[in-house]
Amino acid sequence: MNSTDKTVTNPQSTVELNADSILAGSRFVRACLRKPVDRTPVWFLRQAGRYMQEYREVRKHHTLVEICKQPQLAAEVTITAAEKLGVDAAIIFADLLLPLEPMGLDFEFQAGEGPVVHRPVRTAEDVRALRTDRASDLEYVSVAIQKVASHFRDRLGIIGFCGAPYTLASYMIEGGGSRNYIFTKQLMYQNAPAWNALLDKIVIVLTEYCRQQVQAGADVIQIFDSWVGSLSLTDYRDYAFAASKRLVRAVQEMGVPVIYFGVDTAGLLGAMAETGADVIGLDWRQPLNEGWASVGHTRAVQGNLDPITLFAPLEILEMRVKEILRSAAGRPGHIFNLGHGIVPGTPVENVQAVAKMVRDFKLENAIA
Ligand code: CP3
Repeated sequence: MNSTDKTVTNPQSTVELNADSILAGSRFVRACLRKPVDRTPVWFLRQAGRYMQEYREVRKHHTLVEICKQPQLAAEVTITAAEKLGVDAAIIFADLLLPLEPMGLDFEFQAGEGPVVHRPVRTAEDVRALRTDRASDLEYVSVAIQKVASHFRDRLGIIGFCGAPYTLASYMIEGGGSRNYIFTKQLMYQNAPAWNALLDKIVIVLTEYCRQQVQAGADVIQIFDSWVGSLSLTDYRDYAFAASKRLVRAVQEMGVPVIYFGVDTAGLLGAMAETGADVIGLDWRQPLNEGWASVGHTRAVQGNLDPITLFAPLEILEMRVKEILRSAAGRPGHIFNLGHGIVPGTPVENVQAVAKMVRDFKLENAIA
């Protein structure tokens, strides 16, 4: 069965598809493919996280990596968040950095510091030492996806994910988050063969990792290029684009749509769309319609509420949500989301309220 075509027909109606009978999973996947939907699908980046009481409870007893590695826990965290918010898609609970371990790099999450890679990649020799034959060690993620898929069946879309080659390489080289990406850009500019070898190895591992996720039941794969906004357009084209494009195409050949997301990407959107990704994630810094124009209307877009607007009073929040929905103008291929992840301290009820605003929105009523 082609997992991208889950259109549901209403057994009570022989006339036409009853809009209410479109399941959320189908609505989400259809929007990724720019097919018409009854309403705009919605989910949130980092919808399972510390802002949510249930997640904080689980975190009292387990580290982040423990949750990821115990499929029952990872599945529960994924399901709880999606059900509590009333969204159309569930993103598997995992982390961008998990593939580093089977490649031979140890890392940990230090409280308040974010991820730390103990022996970052700095030389051609370090790149040579990285392994590409142990992607099967990441199987715990696909086991969790299987559990989420058997829970939701077709009711919700299931999103698998991985980092983009550039963003993952920058973590491996910097050893954690970075302000200026000096080590990354040094390797990139000074040792192109080592840089290319590194991206090649990452693409090999991620392709296998995504294959496991798709076979386990992921309907869509999102590729996070969170730090790609650190690159100029020229450097993106010269040093990051080709590897991203190869990964996008490899995943699409598995039969699922790809969402390609980055932050601070206003100048990169056209080039990102050239990877062939089905959906481009938009950050909040420009209006949705301007971002969509840069991407081109032959692609779907996802976004783009500023996550910090979730701290605003409901009236302001509603204005911003409606502005985005009106800006999409009913064109097929919009998935409502934030421009980046939910941050700790965000009021859960505001996230729920946004999900409801999107579910209830009717374009014709909204136009005065
Ligand atoms: O619902 C979900 O989206 C949760 C699943 C998820 C996590 N990480 C769990 C997590 C996803 C999709 C990610 C992806 C991820 N991880 C990205 C790309 C998304 C983005 O924000 O651009 C990145 C850059 C990472 C790397 C990472 N993981 C960082 C920089 C941090 C520290 C930030 C912080 O808030 O401390 C993490 C930790 C992390 N990964 C948390 C969660 C819920 C929070 C920390 C915790 O629970 O201790």
